[in-house]
Amino acid sequence: MFRQYLANYKSKLNKIGVAFAPANIALIKYWGKRETTLNIPVTNSLSIALGSLGATTSVEFNLTAKQDVVILNGELQAQDTSFVTRIVKFLDLVRNADEYFIVKTDINIPIAAGVASSAAGFAALALALNNLYGWDLNDQHLSILARLGSGSASRSIYQGFVEWQCGTQADGSDSFAVKLDVEWPQFEIGLLLITNAEKAVSSRQAMLATTTTCPWYKLWPDVVAIDLKNLKQALYERNFALVGLIAEQNAQAMHSMMQATRPTVMYTLPKTLELMHKVWSLRQQGIQVYFTQDAGPNLKLLYLQQDRHKILANFADLIVVARSEV
Ligand code: PMV
Repeated sequence: MFRQYLANYKSKLNKIGVAFAPANIALIKYWGKRETTLNIPVTNSLSIALGSLGATTSVEFNLTAKQDVVILNGELQAQDTSFVTRIVKFLDLVRNADEYFIVKTDINIPIAAGVASSAAGFAALALALNNLYGWDLNDQHLSILARLGSGSASRSIYQGFVEWQCGTQADGSDSFAVKLDVEWPQFEIGLLLITNAEKAVSSRQAMLATTTTCPWYKLWPDVVAIDLKNLKQALYERNFALVGLIAEQNAQAMHSMMQATRPTVMYTLPKTLELMHKVWSLRQQGIQVYFTQDAGPNLKLLYLQQDRHKILANFADLIVVARSEV
């Protein structure tokens, strides 16, 4: 599909394409696809980019062997890993006959631990391919290309607050992300890493299981529609407490669906729960801190820059994402 589309673009081949893309954390979650091979979502979602945390990727043609080579953080990856298989499948979407690539990617966040490394990875690869081939794609088309690698990668094309529109077209041509007109440098994210072990159930598998067996998945589009409308309003009004609360509740709603999936999908660990209770108790003491959780046990804290010292005093291991420095 995409290759056909790319045929309309004049390609000005470069020797190498290099790009950075940030990771992103969803405040309104993407959970469920209306089309599984093209990663077309059931609902819109909304995220915030993680500034300088993400993936830097270079891609060049492999002129010495008829295979793709993938190097992650300086280490050559075995061909049979799921990591390489996903990248090769993505490269198949754009390669011409007899083209093979060397992909080098440096990711400065834990891989596959629910910290959105695949989003940054596929977005950076899409941007790097755009540079290599000299396509000069616009942001919407880059977002669509990144989406074909991993749904949430569609949002990693931009910094800041981003909305991914699910669209209505069967081919996904109107399912891309747009940057929202909200500058809020005081809005910070902190990562609480409970484990960076690779997860047993991928988000892809878990999403499919939820959409097919959670008895109340059909309510999810309505939950998202209401949460999204209210959260956007709160963002435009810079109402931090409301943004935090809606984001936290939306994540909890997503995890409650996973728990009702048959068999249950449980990413939450005892430590995750302990930290959630700590966040709630700090809020009771008047500290404005909220959390969100993705397809993994780690938590992401949401707070304002002015409260950073209070948050750090309570969570010594917090990895602060200093978005204001971006
Ligand atoms: O793009 P994927 O397949 O890694 O799915 C991401 C799913 C969540 O992180 C749980 C939610 C989201 O919107 O990012």
